[in-house]
Amino acid sequence: MVSIRPATIDDLPGMQACNLCCLPENYQMKYYLYHALSWPQLPQVAVDSQNRIVGYVLAKMEEDTDEVHGHITSLAVMRSYRRLGIATALMRASIATMEECFSAEFVSLHVRYTNRAAFSLYSETLGFEIRDVEKEYYADKEDAYDMRKTLRAGHAKQEAEKGKKKNKDNKENKENKENSKDKENEKKEAKGAEKSDAKAEEADKEKSEEKADGDTEEAKKKRKKKGKK
Ligand SMILES: CC(C)(COP(=O)(O)OP(=O)(O)OC[C@H]1O[C@@H](n2cnc3c(N)ncnc32)[C@H](O)[C@@H]1OP(=O)(O)O)[C@@H](O)C(=O)NCCC(=O)NCCS
Repeated sequence: MVSIRPATIDDLPGMQACNLCCLPENYQMKYYLYHALSWPQLPQVAVDSQNRIVGYVLAKMEEDTDEVHGHITSLAVMRSYRRLGIATALMRASIATMEECFSAEFVSLHVRYTNRAAFSLYSETLGFEIRDVEKEYYADKEDAYDMRKTLRAGHAKQEAEKGKKKNKDNKENKENKENSKDKENEKKEAKGAEKSDAKAEEADKEKSEEKADGDTEEAKKKRKKKGKK
């Protein structure tokens, strides 16, 4: 029977041996130690009934970045233990710890362009998505898929950002509407003022015409009077 548990310092030589059996990317012991001492919750091992390491995942938290996120440094399962769900269980255990202990927003990893087994494990079983292709990433110049899986904290952050953007858009829409209302009102007021100016002008004109008419009537009357005399 195989069980999954967090790795201890004593497991590091077994992890290194498994890595040497399964992958061309190998690391010095101090790199395993760096992971185990810095993030002791993250590296996990799969052990058989005699506590022999048959699989491992080496994982860390990325530093020097605005977004808190985990990274899978290395994953392998010994050949005779494959297709039993061991890699899936190792990955899930490590990712759950990234979420619980560090509130990781996402987890990233690199995988060789031609590693179909690992690629389908990541994309189909675990829900990772391709973010980029890194040209000649590996020492032998093979390209790598840069893959990511967004975690709960990442989804929450995205939702909060969406909410903020929506609020900002709503505020801007409201302000735009108010501005256009103000402009309409200004136009209406200007039209009203124009109309009353025109009315006043018309009234003035009528008055002066009346006055002119009055003058002529008066002049007529005066002329009449003069004629009688
Ligand atoms: C990739 C690796 C870790 C998978 O380990 P595993 O324990 O066999 O994986 P799982 O049993 O959890 O497989 C889960 C899913 O991954 C996919 N998968 C795994 N091995 C596969 C293979 N050989 N071919 C196609 N798909 C495969 C399948 O979808 C599988 O689900 P299924 O068994 O229900 O079909 C293992 O093959 C390995 O150690 N390979 C060498 C090292 C390596 O490539 N590491 C990854 C570096 S990025």
